[in-house]
Amino acid sequence: MHTPVVATADADARVMVLREFNPENWTLRFHTDARSPKVAVIGNGAPVAVLFYDQTEKVQLRCRGLARIVCDAAIADKAWQESDTFARRCYLGAPPGEERDEPSSGLPKDVEGRRPSEEQLAPARENFAVMLVTIETMDWYRLSSDGHKRAIFTRGKGQWVTP
Ligand SMILES: Cc1cc2nc3c(=O)[nH]c(=O)nc-3n(C[C@H](O)[C@H](O)[C@H](O)COP(=O)(O)O)c2cc1C
Repeated sequence: MHTPVVATADADARVMVLREFNPENWTLRFHTDARSPKVAVIGNGAPVAVLFYDQTEKVQLRCRGLARIVCDAAIADKAWQESDTFARRCYLGAPPGEERDEPSSGLPKDVEGRRPSEEQLAPARENFAVMLVTIETMDWYRLSSDGHKRAIFTRGKGQWVTP
């Protein structure tokens, strides 16, 4: 369940890499480009859905919660420092969605296909953002030939429901 789909209220959805789940406060951490359209939609707080599927377990998790974007705080600095230099390289490029005449990574030529140095990466920090999603409800669904099973969880409470 490493790459869920994150859906925003503007009827858009995209795959994102899950970086961390904090079971204390039911918060998911994602990394993204501060210049991306979803960051403008989410801002300081907006509802999102996060959809996971485990093909082996045949389990779907439909999470709903509140997302917020964090650019400057210590939490974003820490996430930035802990990220691999190749992962941080994405934030050196042109903003997501810029039109080009040919296929393009948007990356500067001197880092394309190469691991950038810490010095080269310094200007990319301002384009990096953390997206935190605090889950409010989770809909668990398991496909089974014995009959599908489903339960709805809120923090502190679980309830079986029909599939
Ligand atoms: C496997 C996979 C993983 C991805 N991981 C991320 C990610 O962690 N963060 C991110 O911002 N975009 C990620 N993307 C790109 C997004 O799906 C999306 O195209 C991009 O963020 C622009 O989204 P937006 O236009 O809705 O802002 C990933 C795409 C794929 C295919």
